[in-house]
Amino acid sequence: MKFVRLSSQNLLLTEVLERDVENIVVACNDDVTVYYLTTLPYPYAREDALNFIKNSVECWKVGDVLRWAVRRLRATGEFVGIVELRKDQEFDSLGVWCMPKARGNGYITEAIQTVVAWSIEQNFTKINAIYYACMPENVASASVVRKTGFKFLGVKQSKEPYIHRDTGTTYKYLYSVYAPTDVDQFSSWGEYL
Ligand SMILES: CC(C)(COP(=O)(O)OP(=O)(O)OC[C@H]1O[C@@H](n2cnc3c(N)ncnc32)[C@H](O)[C@@H]1OP(=O)(O)O)[C@@H](O)C(=O)NCCC(=O)NCCS
Repeated sequence: MKFVRLSSQNLLLTEVLERDVENIVVACNDDVTVYYLTTLPYPYAREDALNFIKNSVECWKVGDVLRWAVRRLRATGEFVGIVELRKDQEFDSLGVWCMPKARGNGYITEAIQTVVAWSIEQNFTKINAIYYACMPENVASASVVRKTGFKFLGVKQSKEPYIHRDTGTTYKYLYSVYAPTDVDQFSSWGEYL
């Protein structure tokens, strides 16, 4: 699949570029990111960021993960975060993070809205079948996705216990699951809760 550049009122959604490497390293070593994005390598090295960038190109070719760098339109393209749409087996899902210094400005909300609208418009996604999962205590994440029109469906327990990287504490954590507002027609959502 060929990369698709998107834009919105305040943002440009472009390829992830090699020059984003330092920003990616900063964002992925940020305490909040580390706590909530449990699958990231930690500490997150420059090499990890370079792999992430390389992988972004490959994923577009395969068409299974569509990843965009989120940039401010009016700040010479300042990199503010990542949004990605993943083709999962049954449903598509969204993943996001924001540069710590860029948080609190609604950029990720706008980026999610842009990607979801594009995806539905292009029939890329089975209509209204995008889901978004976050840890229940991730208030910022939940707030962002609710603002984009997703609706809270419930909590789902993770299959495997989660061992925190730093403390070694093991616990089963729960995901809050969100989906677009008119998802009621999808009866099989029950399986995700
Ligand atoms: C999730 C994330 C992308 C949101 O970034 P953002 O767009 O800057 O979000 P904000 O900081 O504006 O927060 C969004 C909302 O949550 C609220 N919020 C943030 N932290 C909060 C807290 N600790 N308690 C209560 N409300 C909080 C903000 O006030 C804001 O609400 P508002 O829009 O009604 O004013 C960002 O926090 C991030 O990168 N987190 C780390 C990675 C991550 O968790 N990704 C998602 C995984 S599911």
